[in-house]
Amino acid sequence: MEIRKVGVIGCGLMGGGIAQTCAQSGYQTIVREVNQPLLEKGLSRIYSAWDKMEGKKKITSQQAVEYRQNLQGTIGLTDLADCDLIIEAVIENMEEKLRLYPALDHLLKPEALLLSNTSSLNITQMGAVTKRPDKIAGLHFFNPAPVMQLVEIVRTISTSEETIETVQHFAQTLGKTSVLAKDTAGFIVNFLLIPYLISAIRMLENGMATRDDIDTAMKLGCGYPMGPFTLLDYVGLDTTLWAAEAIYNEYKDPLYAPPPLLRRMVQSGQYGKKSGKGFYTYE
Ligand code: 3HC
Repeated sequence: MEIRKVGVIGCGLMGGGIAQTCAQSGYQTIVREVNQPLLEKGLSRIYSAWDKMEGKKKITSQQAVEYRQNLQGTIGLTDLADCDLIIEAVIENMEEKLRLYPALDHLLKPEALLLSNTSSLNITQMGAVTKRPDKIAGLHFFNPAPVMQLVEIVRTISTSEETIETVQHFAQTLGKTSVLAKDTAGFIVNFLLIPYLISAIRMLENGMATRDDIDTAMKLGCGYPMGPFTLLDYVGLDTTLWAAEAIYNEYKDPLYAPPPLLRRMVQSGQYGKKSGKGFYTYE
């Protein structure tokens, strides 16, 4: 199946990065947010990324113009009706997704694919509320989506082979390397990453070392680009909590039980970089 027009639902940190990536790869891209202020905030983040790339001479001014022409924003779901492929990147809340998927199923042409960027929620359940479960799969990006090389393609028990092949080809055209994972909570990356991140929080709670020393240790001792607390703030503490809860709910493995400090920071609005405060404070 040929993909020409891509719809991205959600223009937050992930949705915006995904829309940016699709527009940069030459796809006619439409990104939808729930209201105008959120849409404008998301689009201006993308435009400023392109301005920076142009400023650093990583792209030409002609490319910057083309990218902008490829990208359109909307607050109306019906504007996505003629898309060949949708990437859903809304809040990690199953009730929200279960409301959205039947509406999209009703709206989209029968052959359109519907992919979720969820990091750990059950995609089979999302497919089950549509009449096209064979065309539903996961396409999980990593933050920052335009830069990180990997996407996880998630196959549910109902996803067709044809859908997987189309998504693998699509990922390649975005310049990404894809890996294939089953629809189990956390897929590959978060199943391994979440215990590492929440272990760092437990170390801090137990007073085993300071925030800065834990970050420095993992950065310089393991060669990671960011220490765990910098990465937690970057990914978002809310996103980390949702992922930990989803994996814990599936396996009941204490390794994934969210530490009290993480839950309390999220309850008090300390989401990390995006809210200005997490383990570190931001301007
Ligand atoms: N668009 C385009 N380019 C961008 C960008 C964006 N949105 N954000 C960053 N970049 C570019 C910068 O312009 C820079 O390009 P240059 O080297 O050509 O100048 C390059 O990326 C590197 O950025 P910086 O120089 O600002 O900073 P760093 O060298 O420290 O790299 C980083 C930043 C790529 C974020 C690096 O620190 C890193 O890889 N960190 C780890 C990120 C990570 O692990 N992400 C996965 C999180 S898990 C996840 O997302 C899953 C979820 O489900 C929980």
